[in-house]
Order: sequence, then C-alpha cells, then structure tokens
Amino acid sequence: MPGAIYAEGLVKTFGEVRALDGVDIDVPEGSVLGLLGPNGAGKTTTVRVLTTLIKPDSGRAEVAGLDVLKHPNAVRRSIGLSGQFAAVDEYLTGRENLQMVAELYQLSSRDAKRRAAELLERFNLAEAADRTAKTYSGGMRRRLDLAAALIVSPPVMFMDEPTTGLDPRNRQALWEVIQDLVAGGTTLLLTTQYLEEADHLADSIAVVDRGKVIARGTSDQLKDSTGGDVVEVVVHAREHIPVADEVLRRLGDGETTLVEHTRKLSVPASGGAKLLAEVIRELDGRGVEIDDIGLRRPTLDDVFISLTGHSAEEEAAGAGGGEDADAAAPGHLRKGEQERGTGPTEEEQK
Ligand SMILES: Nc1ncnc2c1ncn2[C@@H]1O[C@H](COP(=O)(O)OP(=O)(O)O)[C@@H](O)[C@H]1O
Ligand SMILES: [Mg+2]
Repeated sequence: MPGAIYAEGLVKTFGEVRALDGVDIDVPEGSVLGLLGPNGAGKTTTVRVLTTLIKPDSGRAEVAGLDVLKHPNAVRRSIGLSGQFAAVDEYLTGRENLQMVAELYQLSSRDAKRRAAELLERFNLAEAADRTAKTYSGGMRRRLDLAAALIVSPPVMFMDEPTTGLDPRNRQALWEVIQDLVAGGTTLLLTTQYLEEADHLADSIAVVDRGKVIARGTSDQLKDSTGGDVVEVVVHAREHIPVADEVLRRLGDGETTLVEHTRKLSVPASGGAKLLAEVIRELDGRGVEIDDIGLRRPTLDDVFISLTGHSAEEEAAGAGGGEDADAAAPGHLRKGEQERGTGPTEEEQK
C-alpha cells in the first residue's frame, strides 16, 4: 500500500530544464522523509507538484491517499505547507496573522488566541507579537510563516527548507516543534540543504540531484553505503598535501576531500585499523609528517560527496551561477521572500 505521500515517475520540465527527471517517493504514514539535495536539485518542484501548486508533465502522485491530479482540492484540505511561498499579511501584527489563520481553520476565538500565543512564544516572537509584520526582519517573517503553517496539525505536512536563514536558537526551536508534530502522527516531507538537519529529523532520506533520487535509506544505511569508515589525516605541512592525497586516493575507496586551511584530508575506506596502520606506514615512508590521524564514521556529507563528487553545502554556498547563486546563505532568504511576493505562477492560475 502506498504511503501517506507517494510519487511515481514524476517528470517536470521548464523549457530546456528538466527539473524533475523521474522522481519516486514513498513516505509511510507518521514518518519523516528528508529530501536532501543542493540548490537546483528539484526539491521545491517536487513539493509544488505534491501540494498541487503545479502539474507534472508525467508521473502520478498521491497524498493522504488522494490523487493530486484528480482531487487537488481534497489534497489541499489534508495538507499543511510552509516554506518559500507561504503568505504573511504585512499590515497585520504577528499575533493577528496567526489568529486569522486559526480562525480560517475554524478554531474558536479563544483557542485561536491560545494557539497563537503558544506559537509566538515558541518561535521567540512574543515580544514582537503586537507589531505589524511589515516591521519584521526576514528571519522573523520566516518564523511567522512557520508558525502559521503549524496552527493546526494536518495529517500531512510539507516544509520546504524550513530552517534556511534561521539562527541556531530558532532552528532548535523549530526542530522541537517538528518533533512534537510528528509525535502527534503527522507525516512530514521536509526539504533541506543541511545534512545535519536531515540526520536529526528524518526517518529516511532521499538524496536528489539533477531531478533524480540518486540514493535513499536511513541515515545509517546511507553512511554504511560509503564503505564503512572515513580515514582522516591532518598533515603537518601544506606542501605534503599532494602526496597525502595520492596515498589516500590509492588506499581508500573513493574521492578524497581536502579542507585546505586545516590541512585535513579524508577518504572513505573499508579495512578499519589495519588500513589505518597501512596509511601511516605509507605516509611515513614518503616523508609526510602527520599531526593527527584517525578513523571516523562517515557523515552525510561524506555520503553526498561519494555519490555526487561534490559537497551539498559547498554547492549550496554559491558554486553555481544564475538562480543557483541565490542559494548563498544571505541571498537564500532573499530568494524566499521574493517567491512569497510573486504570487501564483502561470500554472497556478490555470
Ligand atoms: N518556474 C520555473 N521556471 C523555470 N525554471 C524553473 C522553475 N522552477 C524551477 N526551475 C528550475 O528547475 C530546477 C529545479 O529547481 P527547484 O525545484 O527549485 O530546485 P531546489 O528546490 O532543489 O533548489 C532548477 O534548475 C530551476 O532553475
Ligand atoms: Mg528550493
């Protein structure tokens, strides 16, 4: 039986761009799927198809057991959506915004007030609650958006990069809210560029790159798939980096990664302590002085690198051009605000 969120073979093109190139997803009821990928991977497009905002060129999808193409209105009634296109009314205060949403969901006026106050507190907006949203900073608006999406707990919830642009304290607050939501039985699809976030919140992870799911599994399964461990070496001198790189490449099982300023190299490897001894012998033999060496468990970032040959967060930090450049940390928030302001796309109006 398909899960609470189910998609099969989703394809969506925008002119020449194949934003989705056959996306399959299956999220069991009550669980959290982390859709993880760099900017431009197709995360938002997937969310927009699943939330009925755009139509795929082909493929099919069901949300809460309802076909998104045949029953878009019923789907909309079963879902909550927060992210790059939620609406905040500039001329209402933070509190009024939330109470309005609560009343739309037909909470009694008393419950609406209580729920609004609770969420304002949770997202550290209590002090600013009675100022108009117009005066809010980008981060505050984002938090108000999220609070609005959380007024009621729908059976299925979508969050598109919910913590992009939030400071650590507010990110933590949101993580707690999300955990409560899921404990209450909500099925959640969450997109993120932050590997740590997927690791922390998601029951299972789908890694997307260029419109395709290129790997899926639990965080542990993905980490195991890189071949076991990661050998990490800090060389004493910068000029030893190339030799160390060559040695790790030869003895390891994949791409090496280098953090230049700390002179730290790493490579996925199987073979444990025995291999570690071999790396030490080899480096020693080649005259490379080692400041630190060890085996560690792979992170999701290692997984990403071994799958795609590049780091998710590196790319997110602005390696790409055009729209991708918007993904750089401060710019990303701006992008979110723009999208909020642009209203429906041509397809949404059809
Ligand atoms: N409305 C649109 N018009 C043209 N291209 C689009 C549109 N929406 C998305 N794209 C393109 O589709 C690809 C996937 O975009 P998106 O789903 O927003 O990725 P992500 O959310 O993972 O960053 C990108 O190359 C993006 O530029
Ligand atoms: Mg996006």
